[in-house]
Amino acid sequence: MTRIAVLGAGKIGEALLAGLLAAGQDADELMFTERHPERADELTARHGVRAVDVATAAARAEIVVVAVKPQDIGPVLDELAGALSPGTLVVSLCAGLPTSLFEGALPEGTPVVRVMPNTPMLVGEAMSAISAGTHATDDQLAVVEKMLASVGRVVRVPESQQDAVTALSGSGPAYFFFLVEAMIDAGILLGLPREVAADLIVQSAFGAARMLRESSDHPVLLREAVTSPAGTTIAAIRELERHGVRAALIDAIEAARDRSVELGKQS
Ligand SMILES: NC(=O)c1ccc[n+]([C@@H]2O[C@H](COP(=O)([O-])OP(=O)(O)OC[C@H]3O[C@@H](n4cnc5c(N)ncnc54)[C@H](OP(=O)(O)O)[C@@H]3O)[C@@H](O)[C@H]2O)c1
Repeated sequence: MTRIAVLGAGKIGEALLAGLLAAGQDADELMFTERHPERADELTARHGVRAVDVATAAARAEIVVVAVKPQDIGPVLDELAGALSPGTLVVSLCAGLPTSLFEGALPEGTPVVRVMPNTPMLVGEAMSAISAGTHATDDQLAVVEKMLASVGRVVRVPESQQDAVTALSGSGPAYFFFLVEAMIDAGILLGLPREVAADLIVQSAFGAARMLRESSDHPVLLREAVTSPAGTTIAAIRELERHGVRAALIDAIEAARDRSVELGKQS
């Protein structure tokens, strides 16, 4: 079994630890680092995984997963650089940080894989896109793919597409939350109690998501199937088109991509 260390067990780091354990990873083969002892104790009590320092993580783990906020990366890389065993695979979950940043700070030849996950990792339904750095091999990408498959789905993309991935699936859950929020408001406008409106919309979102994932049909076909002539759905669709919702979504996602590029330049 591969020994894995997670540096920074916050929301995403803990979700990954929990997913790996649920997928059968031995707790003895997992470790994590945390700045606050209370948080470390809490995680050990919850998951039975031990907290270590960065030097121990770097020396013992075959895969070091970096899950600190991008702005906290400096000190972590400094500590890792002096402690990393040759050949240890470094997996970065840090949004916007290029593999070249890790390769420049870590020992020559360190294999690095960049991942853009998203928050549904918290419920084992992440969408993660992975990209190899200069020294990461296909086999190492496959190892990362297997690791992340325990908390959702995984695709491989060239690193040049990571800004687009950030805009689509990285930020994507927020767009759906926004949509659900607006639809619940609509239910309230129509006189439904908030809890009823929320139930109706959340279950509809869940059902629609399952249909999208499990059917091989294009979304257009799924929508057409509930859009009858002179019916209610087409009346709503006309309003969505009149308000330019399709164009607004395309513009919004392009803006997110541009912001990701901008943030990457500042790192
Ligand atoms: N959440 C998302 O939706 C999402 C999506 C895609 C990618 N990501 C990426 O995933 C990474 C983690 O995000 P998150 O939402 O899980 O953030 P988070 O909850 O703030 O977790 C980061 C954790 O790292 C700890 N930490 C910081 N510096 C450390 C150090 N030197 N040594 C040990 N631990 C350290 C933090 O401790 P403190 O509490 O002391 O700061 C915190 O517990 C980020 O790089 C983010 O870009 C997140």
